[in-house]
Amino acid sequence: MNIPHFHAEYAPSDMTLVRAMLARNPVDAKFKEKVQSRALSYVEAIRGAPKGAGLEDFMQEYSLTTKEGLALMVLAEALLRIPDEETQDKLIADKLGEGEWEAPDGDEGWLLMAASWGIGLSARIVRPGETPGGVIKNLVRRVGSPAVRIGTRQAMNYLGRNFVLGQTIEDAMDRAKKQEKKGFRYSYDMLGEGARNQHDAKAYFDAYSHAIDAIGARAKSNQPPEDRPGISVKLSALHPRYYLKNRAEIMETLVSRVLDLAKRAKAEDLNFTVDAEEADRLEVSLEIFRELATAEELSGWDGLGLAVQAYQKRAPGVIQYIDDLAQATGRKFMVRLVKGAYWDTEIKRAQERGIDDFPVFTRKPATDLCYLDCARILLDARPRIFPQFATHNALTMAAIIEMGGTDGYEFQRLHGMGEPLYDAQVHDDGIPVRIYAPVGGYKDLLAYLVRRMLENAANSSFVAQVLDDRIPNEDLLEFPQEELRPGIEAGDPPVHPLIRTPDKIYPLRKNSKGLELGHGPHLAEIRAEIQKFRGPWHTLNALIDGVDHRFEGEKLPIVNPSRLDQ
Ligand code: FAD
Ligand code: 2OP
Repeated sequence: MNIPHFHAEYAPSDMTLVRAMLARNPVDAKFKEKVQSRALSYVEAIRGAPKGAGLEDFMQEYSLTTKEGLALMVLAEALLRIPDEETQDKLIADKLGEGEWEAPDGDEGWLLMAASWGIGLSARIVRPGETPGGVIKNLVRRVGSPAVRIGTRQAMNYLGRNFVLGQTIEDAMDRAKKQEKKGFRYSYDMLGEGARNQHDAKAYFDAYSHAIDAIGARAKSNQPPEDRPGISVKLSALHPRYYLKNRAEIMETLVSRVLDLAKRAKAEDLNFTVDAEEADRLEVSLEIFRELATAEELSGWDGLGLAVQAYQKRAPGVIQYIDDLAQATGRKFMVRLVKGAYWDTEIKRAQERGIDDFPVFTRKPATDLCYLDCARILLDARPRIFPQFATHNALTMAAIIEMGGTDGYEFQRLHGMGEPLYDAQVHDDGIPVRIYAPVGGYKDLLAYLVRRMLENAANSSFVAQVLDDRIPNEDLLEFPQEELRPGIEAGDPPVHPLIRTPDKIYPLRKNSKGLELGHGPHLAEIRAEIQKFRGPWHTLNALIDGVDHRFEGEKLPIVNPSRLDQ
């Protein structure tokens, strides 16, 4: 069998890509009308639905205004990082006492506060200039600090419950029953990522293995693979050095761990999806997926899948690659199409590393268009591929339905997000929906929660815009092709004018140029250069402070501390 490897330019030009996508995805007037009228009905349903029932109950119980509830939530977020109750109480007392909320720049706590307060701003619950600290101070004056402490704890539980289905897989499956009865499918995600050492990696591996067995034990028999429950796995949880530069080690250790989990999932006939993480892990993740796709032990199983991020410029190439793998192996795969949850990280990393350009688009309509482009390729690849469209955006969803009909794919939403949209869609045409449900304790929630907060708060997000009644329905229904075309026709690159490319981040000088170690050709280049300087070298003189010093006398060997033979 000739099994291809994935090769693609890391950060190609936005102009070339967007031009090609516009040519491949023209907007026909009839199609546009159908998509917009379907999307409009979803937007009206979302805007007409009661807002945040859980949050409102909580507010009522404590006689809080929404603004105060939100301020408590900000405090609660800080608490999620504190494992024991005693220290939590101290933090609450401290925060209530000091009344000072602005953390220094760069502090994680500040990021969280900014994000959740941002939700309040976009939903017009709070006004610009108001701070969580000011609101809480007034609240303490009104009801006293003990009541505020209890309220904060409740807010913390609310946050946990809203985004996490259960602290254990058993609890989560119990809680899932209600939605399953309504026809929703589940993919469980064991919280935890970016293992820092082998000890963590082992704990996450054990959590996944246990979850697979537990899900399998409760799953019904005789269902087609698409109807079965599943598990979503983050490879960064399973190995602390999951990077392309450690390919040799990864292809042995990490592959054997993932294969072990996949075999368990196959034995229970579950779905098994590899989540998409940072762009510098894409190539190594596809090498691992290639191993799974060709593993003899997994043959005859249609539940293997992976997530692909449409904000990445390489996304259409990745989808094409998965289809090539399906054709070369004769197997069927599941592909979850997402837009991508690490956008801020990608921008900052590319700038820090000084690479030539960004691996992701910098304008949202370019990501939206790429999503539709990838969706078209996926729908055409049915039934070799089972497409899974993960989105909370009504226009994206309506476009998929008009492109793909109602068969041979599913939609996906996150637990705690997108309920009113999906209630409307399921009621409308009954296309199956899977809920991605995080499971775990608060200590592993932070990274996931930050991504959800950013997503809810970003003013470009559909979920934030649809809650903002200043934004008219029509603005939510604009096609990405139409937003992008005038600029492209005028010859303007489709890039964000305020985001500086990595070489331009300093006002007075050019940034130093870097290489991306997550990209095969860059890695090969730097390795070849290192080889040239391997040595051994004999140092006889040294230039110190501009003066050439010559040395004589005893020679000392100096070795590479990580490779004593060098
Ligand atoms: P929209 O509001 O239409 O899109 C928001 C998205 O647009 C942002 O998240 C970002 O991707 C993109 N964007 C925003 N601003 C810009 C800009 N200036 N330039 C370019 N692009 C921009 N994410 C992962 O990364 N990996 C996963 O494995 C993963 N699994 C998921 C599973 C499920 C079931 C769901 C529902 C989501 C998953 N996500 C995953 C998260 C997903 O990436 C976000 O929920 C998604 O981006 C939101 O898109 P939307 O269509 O709902 O909303
Ligand atoms: C995330 O962890 C849902 O995989 C996505 O943000």
